[in-house]
Amino acid sequence: MSDATTEEVFDVVAATAPEIRATLVDRVGFESEENPSGEKQIAADVHADRLLEERLRPIDGVNEYASEERDELVTDGDGEDEGYGVAVDPVDGSSNIETNNAAGTIVGIYDGALPASGDKLVGAAYVLYGPRTTMVAATEGSVTEYVIEDGDRAVVREDVRIPDEAGDKGVFGFGGRVSEWPAEVEAFVREIEQELKLRYSGAMIGDINQVLSYGGIFAYPPLRSAPESKLRLLYEGNPIGYIVEAAGGRSSDGDRSILEVPPEDLHQRVPVHIGTTEYVDRLEAALD
Ligand code: F6P
Repeated sequence: MSDATTEEVFDVVAATAPEIRATLVDRVGFESEENPSGEKQIAADVHADRLLEERLRPIDGVNEYASEERDELVTDGDGEDEGYGVAVDPVDGSSNIETNNAAGTIVGIYDGALPASGDKLVGAAYVLYGPRTTMVAATEGSVTEYVIEDGDRAVVREDVRIPDEAGDKGVFGFGGRVSEWPAEVEAFVREIEQELKLRYSGAMIGDINQVLSYGGIFAYPPLRSAPESKLRLLYEGNPIGYIVEAAGGRSSDGDRSILEVPPEDLHQRVPVHIGTTEYVDRLEAALD
């Protein structure tokens, strides 16, 4: 096992991104099936999942493939803790496709059998299909931003750091209905709306990318009707927590780093609060 495997995973995701972007235009219809989390799949979800599985599995050192869009783990091994397990959200924010808003792809590379804890991540990346196709990748404690053209990634920013202080441009975005939030979350939001601008897009990747650029906080908190909230630990909470922590920020499930949440299930959900350290600290204190 080497970093070469992580870099190859990033290369394959970058090489596949233009095709995934094209499927967001061509395959917008709904499938008859739901994904394992009970959400309607669009054809692009299914196609992007197939493309990624087909290309990531042959990589030397990758023994397992898990995806938000399929029930079962695809594995070469016998569940032994050897080799890397790659977990993907092929199209993050797929409900945004209908309205022509941003979407993304997320990948987490775990050193061990899946489901693994976020502490086992050796790399993570996301692709943002915005006006440009960009990729933000983290490994070995450093974060790099790339622009993807013709399937190749070119560095636009090395050593990406989340601003320590949000400043004038700082943003926040919280998912779920306000009436469903715990009272402490609502009170916290009333406080930070005096300091940050509200921006919520419906695609975690779009929201996280602006928090990483401007500082602030993104959250999908626990809901009264769903204490585990909406986002998935393996495909969303962990990889994005890993990237933002490597950029100097924090992630939390409400009282600890998301990377410390014990994994029990491939499709486990987790409350997600991610961003500038100060805001995540304050939110945790409010929930205490
Ligand atoms: O699948 C997850 C997701 O699409 C995230 O990208 C996004 O943050 C969230 O769901 C949006 O949920 P809602 O439609 O409830 O705002």
